[in-house]
Amino acid sequence: MFDKEIYSARRKELASKINSGVILFLGNKEAPMNYPANEYKFRQDSNFLYYFGLDEPNLAAVIDAESGEEIIFGYNRDVDDVIWMGPDASISEKANSVGVANTKPFGELFNYIEKQIGVGRKIHFLPPYRAETMIDLEKLTGIKTEKIKIFSSQELIKAVVAQRSIKQPEEIEEIENALAISYEMYATAFREIRPGLLERELYGKLEGITLSKGNGVSFPTILSVRGEILHNHHHENIMSEGDLLVIDSGAESEMHYASDITRTLPVSGKFTEKQKGIYSIVLKAQKEAIEMMKPGVKYRDVHLHAAKVITEGLKELGLMKGNVDDAVQNGAHALFFPHGLGHMLGLDVHDMEGLGENFVGYNSEIERSEQFGLAYLRFAKSLRPGHVITVEPGIYFIPKLVEKWKAENKLNEFINYEKVEEYLGFGGIRIEDDVLVTEEGHRVLGKQLIPKEIEDIEKAITGN
Ligand code: GLY
Ligand code: MN
Ligand code: MN
Repeated sequence: MFDKEIYSARRKELASKINSGVILFLGNKEAPMNYPANEYKFRQDSNFLYYFGLDEPNLAAVIDAESGEEIIFGYNRDVDDVIWMGPDASISEKANSVGVANTKPFGELFNYIEKQIGVGRKIHFLPPYRAETMIDLEKLTGIKTEKIKIFSSQELIKAVVAQRSIKQPEEIEEIENALAISYEMYATAFREIRPGLLERELYGKLEGITLSKGNGVSFPTILSVRGEILHNHHHENIMSEGDLLVIDSGAESEMHYASDITRTLPVSGKFTEKQKGIYSIVLKAQKEAIEMMKPGVKYRDVHLHAAKVITEGLKELGLMKGNVDDAVQNGAHALFFPHGLGHMLGLDVHDMEGLGENFVGYNSEIERSEQFGLAYLRFAKSLRPGHVITVEPGIYFIPKLVEKWKAENKLNEFINYEKVEEYLGFGGIRIEDDVLVTEEGHRVLGKQLIPKEIEDIEKAITGN
C-alpha cells in the first residue's frame, strides 16, 4: 500500500470537486467460479483501490462531500472466519492504515444511505460493471438494476477521470514494476520460442511469471500464431517454421498497476524478407508515433500519423495506391489497421474504461468518429504531463475482412486487392509500448526496454 497521506490527499481532492451529497464506493466481492465457495482470484475495484487502498472483499466507503467525513464499512473476522481464513487486523486498524478515522459494520451502510436519501441528499456512485454491485446499488438506492448505470453520477465520473488520468510518481513506479515483470515474460518468450512448441506451453509459462512476481495478469494473455485475430485467446496451435507469434500480454504489480506490451516474434528466430517488409512499417509507425508525443498534441493526430506511415509503407510494397492523405482520410488503412493506436494505462489495463470510454478519451473539443477503424480509438484528446498511454499500431491480413471489402469494391482507388491476396495467411504484426507524457515530451516506460528492432529480436531468440 502507499502511505496513508496519499490516499487522504486523493480523497480530499475528490471531495473538493463534488458540490454536495455523499460519494459512495462499493468494493468488489468474491466472484464464484462454479459453485458459491469456489471463487475466482479476487480483484478489488480499481476506484476503491485508488481512494481507499484496501485490497480485500466486502468493503464499502463513503465520503461526505460537504463535511468531509469519511467512513469505511466492513466486517471484523469472527471465530468461524478465523478457522478458515486465519486471523486478521480489525476493520478500524485497516481503515487507519489508509487514513480513515471512522468505521462501521457493513450492515449499517444500508441505514446510513437510507438516512441520507431521507433528508434529500444526492448519492454519487460510479457505473457498476458487476452484477453483485448492481444488485447492492438497487438495494441501497431503490433504483432498478437496469437503470443503475443511467443514474450513476457524471459529476463523480468526471472528477475521478480527471484525477486518475494524471499519474503520480508513485504510480509510475508501480507501472514500471509491472513492466519489469513484462521484461521477464518476454525474455522467457525469446528464450523458449521454437518450431514445435505449443502456444499453450509458452502461455502457461508467461502467466506463471506474472503470478510468481506480481499479482497475475492485467488481462488474459493474447499469444497466437494467428495474430490477425486481434484479441485471440485460443492457445492450441503448434508453432511452425515461418510463423509469426504475436504476444500481447501484461502483468499487475503488487499494487495492481498494469503493464501492456506486445511483441511479434519469428518462430524460427529469423524474419523472412516478406515479414521484415511489414514489420518495418509497423515499427516505423510506432516509433514516429512515440516521437510525436508531448503535451498539447491530440492523440487522435498521433493515431492518424501512424495510419499515414502504414499507408505509405503499404503503398511502397504495392498493397495500397493513390494519395496517402486521401487514403487515410477515407479510412482505407483500416483494412490493415482496424483498431485504435492506444489507450490509457494505470490500475486498469484499459484505464477507467468501466467509467465510460468517452469520458476517458474524448471531451467537448474532440468527438468520437464513426468511421470504421477510427471509431475504435479509445483515447483521442490532447496529451498532458502525467498521462500514460499505450502505443500499439499493427498490420493484419484478415481474410474475411479482405473478402468483404473486395466484394464491395470498397475504396478500391486506394487498395490493390490482387496484391493483398498474396498476403492472406501472413497473420498479423503488432508492437506495443507504454509511454509517459512528460513536461518536455515523453518517456517510454520500463527500466529495461524489451527488444523490438529486427536485429535485436533475432539476436534475442537465436543468440546471434
Ligand atoms: N490488451 C489489449 C490491448 O492491448 O489493448
Ligand atoms: Mn496489449
Ligand atoms: Mn493495449
